[in-house]
Amino acid sequence: PEYAVPQAPEDPLFGLMAAFRADGDEKKVDLGIGAYRDNDAKPWVLPVVKKADILLRDDPSLNHEYLPIAGLTDFTSAAAKLILGAESPALSEKRVHSMQTISGTGAVHIGALFLRKFYAGAPTVYFSNPTWANHNQIFSNVHLPTSTYPYFSKSTKGLDFAGMKNAISSAPDHSIILLHACAHNPTGVDPTRDQWKELAMLLKQKRHFPFFDCAYQGFASGDLAKDAWAVRYFVEQGFELCIAQSFAKNFGLYGERAGCFHFVTSPSSSATSTTSRIASQLAILQRSEISNPPAYGARIASLILNDTKLFAEWEENLRTMSGRIINMRKALRSKLEELGTPGTWNHITDQIGMFSFTGLSEKQVAELRESSHVYMTKNGRISMAGLNTHNVEYFAKAVDRVVRE
Ligand code: LMR
Repeated sequence: PEYAVPQAPEDPLFGLMAAFRADGDEKKVDLGIGAYRDNDAKPWVLPVVKKADILLRDDPSLNHEYLPIAGLTDFTSAAAKLILGAESPALSEKRVHSMQTISGTGAVHIGALFLRKFYAGAPTVYFSNPTWANHNQIFSNVHLPTSTYPYFSKSTKGLDFAGMKNAISSAPDHSIILLHACAHNPTGVDPTRDQWKELAMLLKQKRHFPFFDCAYQGFASGDLAKDAWAVRYFVEQGFELCIAQSFAKNFGLYGERAGCFHFVTSPSSSATSTTSRIASQLAILQRSEISNPPAYGARIASLILNDTKLFAEWEENLRTMSGRIINMRKALRSKLEELGTPGTWNHITDQIGMFSFTGLSEKQVAELRESSHVYMTKNGRISMAGLNTHNVEYFAKAVDRVVRE
């Protein structure tokens, strides 16, 4: 048979990771993929995760049987409480269906597939410009039309709120609007609470469907409730919405693929039966794609989420990660200001979460890689976690050189 399969380009982010690994220079700096590193640029197994791992290993009742199609119930119900708040009326009114997924990517995908199948008229999905590169790919793969709304202002290196609102209000009614719950990837720029309120009002007027991607709860500010504020506000406003929730970053469970998809129906007398119908269809989609989700990461997260002491320890670990990143933001900004590097650098400390959108051009990014063995994505995004007290000065000097050229 003849196959008309054209060669596809390598994934830019994973390609960058491979290029970094192949670079033999000892000064090399990895600011590519969004994965937490400690002050020695090493992956960090959260101490609370280590503890949970030992507890699991010692549990004689555990086996390797299949999980249910919708995943580990103790995990999915704790995950729902974590994002929605334990007191959420959506939970007490049984308006939420939660299903375990292959981390955040799997949750975005199952949501996209579900909406493609059941949301009348295959509406356009609007992403922020820019957004996480995989969003476009995931929604396009299920044949939903995609478009963008302005998000990042090049001049202020902050939010282009007017542009964002304008595009959302010009979109056809009942569009799907993808929103980053907190710590926007790649820009590190989030709307303020007042801006979220305005957005909620606008989405309601237009009857748009909010799709929240939440990959950084607790990781952005170190405060789990604060990072969930926007999602909880939209739920309070009575929206029907869905949430893709990842535990890759906040538990450091990257390769274990622990995640959850939540569908929240709006308050109405028939909400419970709607939720049950949605659950039944999601189960079919899940069964045909992955049958049932992987157990290990969900067991680890579940153990921690359902135990008061372990939970408190997790919050401490979250503060360690977010605190170190905030310190690196301060350090990088002050080094650049000390060097008198042309331009303004306040955006580095204004932006939050794993990433900073530096404003460096594609050419400058290429030069940094060539001359200083610094690896970052072409759009000028840096993973703040790749910086540490040993390399921040080296990086600042390298930036200073390319900006002056
Ligand atoms: C990133 O954007 O670096 C992370 O979310 C990793 C990924 O899967 O793309």
